[in-house]
Amino acid sequence: MADGYRCEACGHASIRWFGRCPGCGAWSTAVAPKRSDAPDVEVVELAALTGAARRLSTGEPEVDRVLGGGLVRGSTVLLAGEPGIGKSTLALQLLTGADVPALLVSAEESLEQVAARARRLGIRDGRRLHAVQASDPAAAVAAVGRTGAAIVVVDSVQALSDPACEGIAGGVNQVRACAEALVRAARSTGAAVVMVGHVTKDGAVAGPKTLEHMVDVVLALEGERGDAMRFLRALKNRFGACDETGLFEMGPGGLAAVADPSALLLEGRRAGAAGSAVYCALHGSRAVLGEVQALVTSAGAEGGHRTAVGVAPSRLALVLGVLAERVELRLGQRQVFVATAGGTALREPAGDLALCLALASAATDAPVDPDVVAVGEVGLGGELRAVPGIARRLREARRMGFERALVPPGCCGGADARLRVEEVCDVRAALTLLWPRRRYRVVSGA
Ligand code: TYD
Ligand code: MG
Repeated sequence: MADGYRCEACGHASIRWFGRCPGCGAWSTAVAPKRSDAPDVEVVELAALTGAARRLSTGEPEVDRVLGGGLVRGSTVLLAGEPGIGKSTLALQLLTGADVPALLVSAEESLEQVAARARRLGIRDGRRLHAVQASDPAAAVAAVGRTGAAIVVVDSVQALSDPACEGIAGGVNQVRACAEALVRAARSTGAAVVMVGHVTKDGAVAGPKTLEHMVDVVLALEGERGDAMRFLRALKNRFGACDETGLFEMGPGGLAAVADPSALLLEGRRAGAAGSAVYCALHGSRAVLGEVQALVTSAGAEGGHRTAVGVAPSRLALVLGVLAERVELRLGQRQVFVATAGGTALREPAGDLALCLALASAATDAPVDPDVVAVGEVGLGGELRAVPGIARRLREARRMGFERALVPPGCCGGADARLRVEEVCDVRAALTLLWPRRRYRVVSGA
């Protein structure tokens, strides 16, 4: 504020704001001078706006669902993920799937590489898809104007570089400036702009954190290396909920939506083997069954290690603590490995009970009844706590042909003759129900 403040009473001017005017001694009379160049903006009554966002289908129902009904015109989406996870593949599928003029701005790969990917994906009719190789955001924006594209993908925002801006491509300054140019272009042309973004080793979007604030939607494409399953989640969505997950499988023809994730995740399960239990997770509104496995070795010289793949180490530590103190299943010096099958992550506390069963089963070499699904959060006292969406989870268990479900107290909703729903109050009760003759004793030690 170069002009500073002025006292309304006596006209005293000061660079700084003042509570009491140093000129006339009056209180609360400091006012900022009016700018003569203030833009004349239109103010409307909110109720007068119909509010329905104009959506574009991406042609991929799984992606549309995660977005909350398709891409919104004039909006910006950040598609983030680790290198090699399939961002460029998904981007190309979206561009060709949507029935509108589309533009790919390739800043990383040559157009020959892009064309090779398109051939690999079996894209034959690319008449409405234009591609340009450019790393200058101004060139990208000009191409949007020239092609009249309604969907634009920029691959990647970290590879763009504005010659008028300092710093190297991918740096904080450059990413912010380039993303700003794209956000402006989206608003002014009405095109939906998808920026591909890399993530760093710790999973954060590379570049400034402000990038996530600047865009309307942040999608994360995730999966385990060496595994074909891919999950698309909305981490931020100005136009919809953030709780939907799209499931895909990477194959020779690109990313294909997984019609029956439970069947895929339970495929190859060694039903009846010790150390395996089935849980039911919620991915957005959808319930998906999965297997959690545990392996407990005999005590070795380097004992006491815990390794968790797809399971949060804190949940594993909690469950091991409960098993040790509440049912005297102490694994002290033994090595413990837990893993989820199929590259899914067991994020929810609702998976605690299955994790407990897999560990107890591995430690005692007694298989869990293969017809059992276990759902429930375990508290520090060993008690089982209710979890959300129990009816949906049980429905999925029934659909997949499971005959028994162990659930927390008060969750019996939706049981029928095919699925026996057994409420258990704590971990000890669950273990006793599965292995009635077994008594838990201390198995730890050197
Ligand atoms: P890509 O989309 O290039 O990943 P990103 O842009 O996130 O770096 O795809 C990476 C991997 O996907 C690559 O290793 C090859 C594999 N892939 C398939 O398995 N099938 C396919 O049809 C395509 C196009 C790629
Ligand atoms: Mg790529």
